[in-house]
Amino acid sequence: MNDSDKSAVKDASKKSVGTVVLKLDGKEIELPLIVGSEGERAIDISELRTKTGCITYDNGYMNTGSCQSAITFLDGERGILRYRGIPIEQLAEQSTFVETSYLLIYGRLPNKKELEAFTTRVTRHTMLHEDMKNFYEGFPRDAHPMATLASAVSTLSTFYQNEPGRAVGGKELDLCIYRLLGKLPTIAAYSHKKSIGHPFVYPDNSLDYTANFLRMMFAVPTEPYELDPGVAKALDVLLLLHSDHEQNCSASTVRMVGSGRASLFASVSAAISALWGPLHGGANQEVIEMLQEIKDNGIAPKDYLAKVKNKEQGARLMGFGHRVYKNFDPRAKIIKKACDTVLNKLGVSDPLLDIAKQIEEAALKDDYFVSRKLYPNVDFYSGIIYRAVGIPTSMFTVMFAIGRLPGWIAQWKEMNESPSFKICRPRQIYTGQSETPYVPLGKRR
Ligand code: ACO
Repeated sequence: MNDSDKSAVKDASKKSVGTVVLKLDGKEIELPLIVGSEGERAIDISELRTKTGCITYDNGYMNTGSCQSAITFLDGERGILRYRGIPIEQLAEQSTFVETSYLLIYGRLPNKKELEAFTTRVTRHTMLHEDMKNFYEGFPRDAHPMATLASAVSTLSTFYQNEPGRAVGGKELDLCIYRLLGKLPTIAAYSHKKSIGHPFVYPDNSLDYTANFLRMMFAVPTEPYELDPGVAKALDVLLLLHSDHEQNCSASTVRMVGSGRASLFASVSAAISALWGPLHGGANQEVIEMLQEIKDNGIAPKDYLAKVKNKEQGARLMGFGHRVYKNFDPRAKIIKKACDTVLNKLGVSDPLLDIAKQIEEAALKDDYFVSRKLYPNVDFYSGIIYRAVGIPTSMFTVMFAIGRLPGWIAQWKEMNESPSFKICRPRQIYTGQSETPYVPLGKRR
């Protein structure tokens, strides 16, 4: 059996429904056509190089399926997003972030007993090791909280050395999962407290996940903290809406790093760094900064759109457009509605919300955006809610990371448990110099 036969046997999950014929160098090569559970088709090229000597080239992976996954289904043309088959709209309406985390990670909704046990385990791991507090001392006060978050998650590997992911599966992995889910809000809230010079607030395990996070963010030792359950609920829905989004940049990072059998903590730390970029999760911070700039300079929405359309200095309408959604982002619809509810409830009137709505209205009528199928994405309105709740702009992407954590865990776990596990190692088309002799320093011009 040659190597490619072996890998075909290992990847038993692939269902071939036919073949595609490729003509190359006067020869015909048959490639299997595989199909997913929602009918999406792919040409399986895993044996292409062996059979033809060619690789495929796909800049930005616009057409490349990197794995088979049963976690999230996304149809960008029809604006559909489902976690483990359940529409995002139903989860936002009826589930909680913790329950949805279980669903993503373990593949099905928990029963009552399982949900209680899972919630208790996550809650019991909210505290950080006391020595981790010293670790915050080393960062400058104005450090970006995403940098602190990525470093702190990576640091977890130093506190739980026999941890993680190399021990794939079973109770050891579960413990690692509870630790990550339990501690990430604490790590995040501590970054905020450090940045404003306030004492850290210990977690309160009598509160639910989101309420506990809000308390750690905003309580001070000098006065009682009054929690608004409506706000906690709205934030919980926001986290849930961010929980997974199939093979995006940070999920692919978690898989890529994890494919070297790096631990879950190390892989999630890398995913946090990937999320930070302004074209990915960092867009929520950029949206608010853009809206603020429009307000401060009294720019009319149509003038701002003109600047974007002219691609002045690469300007983009942040919070608009998506690699996969070419209709609308179903999460943005829910968040836009939640925006009005939260602001009304808190009695907050935010001029940036009005500007955002004007921009959206103008863009959706503008041929530039319509022809390119650019619609508001998850980041366009989420920042308005974070602002109303009092979360500083620099923490917006951290909120995204807290929300995305169960998705990263689920992607990492699925990959590591797959019988067709393989280290990720793309190829390239080399475009550099052909063989060139070394020139000694003294002979160089
Ligand atoms: N504003 C203005 N023009 C845009 C925008 C935008 N937000 N997004 C895409 N375009 C234009 C591009 O300039 C390009 O135009 P052209 O055909 O004249 O060259 C065309 O639309 C296609 O854009 P690409 O960059 O090729 O699309 P791609 O799928 O690679 O990029 C991305 C998707 C990165 C999300 C892009 O739409 C973008 O930069 N949006 C703004 C940043 C943002 O909101 N990111 C968050 C995405 S959601 C998430 O990751 C959580």
